[in-house]
Amino acid sequence: SRLVVLVSGSGSNLQALLDACADPAYGAEVVAVGADRDGTYGAERAAKLGVPTFVHKVKDYGTRDQWDAALTAEVASYEPDLVVSAGFLKLCGPRFLAAFPGRYVNTHNSLLPAFPGMNGPGEALAAGVKIAGATLFICDSGVDTGPIVAQCAVPVEDDDTVETLTERIKEAERAQLVASVGRMMRDGWKTEGRRVR
Ligand code: GRF
Repeated sequence: SRLVVLVSGSGSNLQALLDACADPAYGAEVVAVGADRDGTYGAERAAKLGVPTFVHKVKDYGTRDQWDAALTAEVASYEPDLVVSAGFLKLCGPRFLAAFPGRYVNTHNSLLPAFPGMNGPGEALAAGVKIAGATLFICDSGVDTGPIVAQCAVPVEDDDTVETLTERIKEAERAQLVASVGRMMRDGWKTEGRRVR
């Protein structure tokens, strides 16, 4: 199976997928990595392994829709079975969603629907919840909405800082991403009552 992964930053979730894909038994391959900005460590991780990378920056296009069209065309050219947003800090537009219906997933560092947006762990800490975690979901047009594929929980410790909680969540998040993507590639999945694969 063919995976395209989109990143904006450090790409530790991408690395977990790259590591998993090194084992042929995993049954998937990262065929390309895309970013919305230059110089991401995620793109560097891919380049080190000879995985093709590409960048599309919103500001290089006249409109958001033109950016969406360019990103859609480039991702589609790799004929992915699944597109994974792993720390990709852009909301994809209607063209993108229509090109990969039910095939575009995002991993988020909170137990959705709690704490969508940019600061899941910080908001969990501020709310005083005792359990935090990560959610893998199928993207729709909203911010961290869309059908949930998997969730994993970690405890919030009394002495946690945003940094320690973020790291605990990310560790569980990476394992979940690898396991869930592997399962999706193996068994297929359903969304909105429709079989995707
Ligand atoms: C992940 O925790 C994801 O949930 C959040 O950003 C983080 C990306 O980390 N949106 P990385 O780039 O995969 O290391």
